Amino acid sequence: MKRFLILLAPCVLIACAQDSADGGKQARPAPADAKAGERTYLLCQSCHTLNEGGLNKVGPNLYGFYGSPAAQADGFIFSEALSDAGISWDEETLDRWLTNPSTTVPGTTMIFVGISDQQQRADLIAYLRSATAEVP
Ligand code: HEC
Repeated sequence: MKRFLILLAPCVLIACAQDSADGGKQARPAPADAKAGERTYLLCQSCHTLNEGGLNKVGPNLYGFYGSPAAQADGFIFSEALSDAGISWDEETLDRWLTNPSTTVPGTTMIFVGISDQQQRADLIAYLRSATAEVP
């Protein structure tokens, strides 16, 4: 009996060590992947362009929007709701907006269901930042 316990103890220790190693990995989010975000942008491109001087479509051209107050694009008529929202676009405000535009800014004219997956939003934001940057 005693010998059995001695043999068992290291096995239990190893099992515990592996458990906590896996748990640690799951808790850490993956780094944002702009390449994956480019695929998610397919959901947006019917209404938006990202390049300098790009067209306003149903939605505004987004060149240079990141880090600026909302509703600044030239020649686009924004809703009063978004113009008066007092939002500046950063990682946090964009994350909320892309989760659900119409609950983030009630009355917005951006009709989009939202993206529920946090990693997908983070990847998309990384892509938007690099693709619309004034200084790449
Ligand atoms: C059906 C068309 C449509 C789709 C699809 C759409 N948008 Fe929009 N978007 C709009 C409109 C319209 C506005 C202006 C909203 C307002 O004035 O209330 C807007 C506004 C925005 C703004 C604010 C711009 C600013 O200058 O303040 C961002 C950022 C944005 N959209 C990002 C996205 C992203 C990212 C996606 C894809 C996940 C997306 N949109 C999908 C129509 C769309």
